[in-house]
Amino acid sequence: MKIAIGSDHAGVALKDKIKAAFTDVEFLDMGTNSPESTDYPDHIAKVARAVQDGSVARGIGICGTGIGASITANKHRGIRAALATNEFMAEMSRMHNDANMLILGSRVTGEDLSLAIVRRWLATGFEGGRHQRRLDKITAIEDAQSGA
Ligand code: RB5
Repeated sequence: MKIAIGSDHAGVALKDKIKAAFTDVEFLDMGTNSPESTDYPDHIAKVARAVQDGSVARGIGICGTGIGASITANKHRGIRAALATNEFMAEMSRMHNDANMLILGSRVTGEDLSLAIVRRWLATGFEGGRHQRRLDKITAIEDAQSGA
């Protein structure tokens, strides 16, 4: 699976751990790649756009709390970004929300748990059915907001 991944300075160490741990995943790294202070929207937007244009299957975004990354990612049409602080949230975000981006807070969730969250998120599929109906309603909201 091809995955875009991006973080600000707060998430760069976790980003590197994830890339090293999942050797069967092809990562498209959208930065940052140094501990220098940077602005999370710059990197998270690159991940979201790669998911939108289909150049990757899914995306992972990381910042300190996961909150700024979540807000940024969910501004993008068609992006369903889920902040997960445990494996259950990661699993449900796939089964019920078909989350196409996973968001992690590097200052909230420890490294081992973060890796377990990513593992569960990558391994879980979407259930469809009544959940698709709900996603269709979210798409309808996006359409109404954009005047489509
Ligand atoms: C950076 O200090 C921090 O504000 C950022 O990583 C994130 O937590 C924002 O939501």
